[in-house]
Amino acid sequence: MAKKEGEETEGIDENFEYTDIKDLPGVGSTLASKIKNAGYADIISLATANPMDLSTTCEIGEPTAKKIVASAREAAKMNFLTGLEFEDKRKSVQRIDTGSKALDILLGGGVETQAITECYGEYGSGKSQIAFQLAVNVQLPPDKGGMNGHAIWIDTEGTFRPNRVEQLAKAKGLDSKEALQNIKIGRAYSSDHQILLVDKIPELINKDPKIKLIVVDSMMALFRAEYIGRGTLADRQQKVNVILHNLQRLADRFNLSVYITNQVMARPDVMFGDPTIAVGGHIIGHVATYRIYLRKGKKGSRVAKLVDSPSLPEGEASFQITADGITDVEEEGKKK
Ligand code: GTP
Ligand code: MG
Repeated sequence: MAKKEGEETEGIDENFEYTDIKDLPGVGSTLASKIKNAGYADIISLATANPMDLSTTCEIGEPTAKKIVASAREAAKMNFLTGLEFEDKRKSVQRIDTGSKALDILLGGGVETQAITECYGEYGSGKSQIAFQLAVNVQLPPDKGGMNGHAIWIDTEGTFRPNRVEQLAKAKGLDSKEALQNIKIGRAYSSDHQILLVDKIPELINKDPKIKLIVVDSMMALFRAEYIGRGTLADRQQKVNVILHNLQRLADRFNLSVYITNQVMARPDVMFGDPTIAVGGHIIGHVATYRIYLRKGKKGSRVAKLVDSPSLPEGEASFQITADGITDVEEEGKKK
């Protein structure tokens, strides 16, 4: 495959007057390393940061965070792309089919590269099943909804099931052992371990440039178990932020898709309607490009709701989980 411009420069414009974070007014080296540890590696990521997140993750006041983001924007001069350049970048976006046409349409044609897609919902809602399907579908040729690609799977709950991959691969006409061979599984045993595994990914991609999908199932389970109580929330959010920004950078740099799953918790303040909310607070919502909320629907179906998408309308899609994988719901009396 031809090398894309962004791969050589890691997305940094050569004409860009580079200033280090520590050189920004009012920052200095101590705060700079705190900011970097929070996942904002350079001026650009800081310039595009949400001041509220910066305030939480670095434990600085909101006015200070706002000032820092403003000066990063100034320093970055917030380069503009021409419409044509932008179109070119978007042209390299590829998509992986989910197996359900309705779900693909909801996502604008499948799970996009250069983006993080987050799926949250209660236990058994199908978050992991979509991950299995994507890890198989990414291996299909583009005309079958894949990228001839391989996958990395970070398993934080011990729920990776080789049998399920084999079953889905067979249903797609793939060699089941080969399909398993093309997925690299990293079992994370602690949140720090999870961070280390994500750090390892560029090395894995160097060895296997066909990697086009990263799954993290699930993103918050270990963090949730380890950080109990509000006292350590800022610390937790900072680490989550680091992982998410690293994943987004990988998605951009290698034109790959990132799919993460997330648990839900009950919101005690909601009296009517659906009282569930994704774990992890605002941080994930700000970084993930696509958020899908999954719930169980009628007759064993699943309903996916697109929440917070940059360019697509909010909407819902129904799908089914069958022995052969994710499919559309077959409506009675309706021809396909
Ligand atoms: P947690 O990880 O527990 O939070 O849930 P999850 O959202 O990851 O759920 P998961 O994706 O594991 O979905 C499990 C559900 O998928 C099961 O309850 C079944 O309804 C369905 N499922 C899994 N395997 C099969 C299968 O082989 N055949 C069929 N028909 N359904 C399956
Ligand atoms: Mg699961």
